[in-house]
Amino acid sequence: MRISIIGTGYVGLVTGVCLAKLGNEVTLVDVDKKKIEAINQKRPSIYEEGLVELLNVTDIETSLDFKKSFGSELIFICIGTPSGDDGSLLLDQLETAVKQISQVVRRKEEYCVVCVKSTVPPGTTRELVIPLLEKSGKEAGKHFGVCMSPEFLREGKAIYDLMNPARIIIGEYDKRSGDTLANLYKDFSAPIMRTNLGTAEMIKLASNTFLATKISFINEIGNICKQLNIDVYEVAKGMGFDDRIGSKFLNAGVGFGGSCLPKDLRGLIARSKQIGYEPKLLQEVLNRNDEQALKSVELLKKHFNLKNATVGILGLAFKPETDDIRESRAIIIVEALLHEGAKVKAYDPLAAENFRSLFPQIEYVTKEEVLNSDAVLILTEWEEFNRLDYSGKIVIDGRRVPKAKGARIYEGVCW
Ligand SMILES: NC(=O)c1ccc[n+]([C@@H]2O[C@H](COP(=O)([O-])OP(=O)(O)OC[C@H]3O[C@@H](n4cnc5c(N)ncnc54)[C@H](O)[C@@H]3O)[C@@H](O)[C@H]2O)c1
Repeated sequence: MRISIIGTGYVGLVTGVCLAKLGNEVTLVDVDKKKIEAINQKRPSIYEEGLVELLNVTDIETSLDFKKSFGSELIFICIGTPSGDDGSLLLDQLETAVKQISQVVRRKEEYCVVCVKSTVPPGTTRELVIPLLEKSGKEAGKHFGVCMSPEFLREGKAIYDLMNPARIIIGEYDKRSGDTLANLYKDFSAPIMRTNLGTAEMIKLASNTFLATKISFINEIGNICKQLNIDVYEVAKGMGFDDRIGSKFLNAGVGFGGSCLPKDLRGLIARSKQIGYEPKLLQEVLNRNDEQALKSVELLKKHFNLKNATVGILGLAFKPETDDIRESRAIIIVEALLHEGAKVKAYDPLAAENFRSLFPQIEYVTKEEVLNSDAVLILTEWEEFNRLDYSGKIVIDGRRVPKAKGARIYEGVCW
């Protein structure tokens, strides 16, 4: 199939290389010249395991010009939808891209399907995307098709997830649109659920807010357990045997970050408020998450005065196997430490450079040098942190790294 992908961030680029590997003719379009050049040089600006290898074995066309999508049967929209000031998902970049696609649709003789893959508030595809596309003078369901198929990939496992999805959700404007997308995925073994556009949009937001809720829930249980001298990890293990609960996303710690969970949670809260509903549970999931991160700083203060002390941070990425620091818990924790007058030195195997652009004033050192601090704070569960020698150190662990228990003083954020 001839496919264009508009937006070559995590979702667009990984979708593009995977679909190309499966034999499709893929064109990647982005407005960011640096990103396109980096892709052409097979040195993408993001890190994902196996990405460079796939870029080297696939033949992908790239362009800064959306008109390159003219020959496509399927156009995926993979534009970022960041949080606005009120928490709502900002749609201005997506709107610009859809207006550009509308110009392509205007000139196209053949039928093509436009598929939104970006995470958007329920109602966006029907109320914003379709009207903008129809400004082309063409009619949805007649001259072109429309789908909304949310992406569920995990950063760090993006290629695996793209090739082995747990489910494929196809929100379709009409049957013909859905058939086109279903045909693309016909050789995948994952269950395919076909539904309407708004339901597909909601499935994505509900999935992410559920995962966020699970994390804030286990952190709450952890905070109670810590006071009662009960190990929350043992509790979670016992809970996880029940398949109604499941064992995943029950790792208590400093909370969730990343480009999706916090923003999608805020996005659904904002959308609910717009329709006059106060989503108190979701709001509390968000509050608990921010308070949880700062608990690590409170614990440090219990052990010594932070003013002029040196705190060593292990882990800056929002999770292991990625260089992504978007909404990483390390950001609010480092801010709080600096505010308390502490000196900070930090190590991360992939994310240090990204972090440096936000915090040039802290020191970036080796992991061994981090250990040489007044206290160590573990904020990302990188495998390599489980091979360090923590003896003689004060460690506050935000991610439950087993080896860290060997520290002179060891305390988990909620264990
Ligand atoms: N990152 C994830 O793990 C993930 C997972 C699932 C879903 N999502 C969702 O997918 C969407 C994309 O996420 P991402 O992380 O890939 O975003 P990103 O910010 O990494 O990438 C978006 C890209 O779109 C480009 N862009 C902006 N305007 C454009 C235009 N008019 N024409 C062409 N390109 C344009 C940007 O330059 C950027 O490269 C978001 O809605 C996100 O919530 C992300």
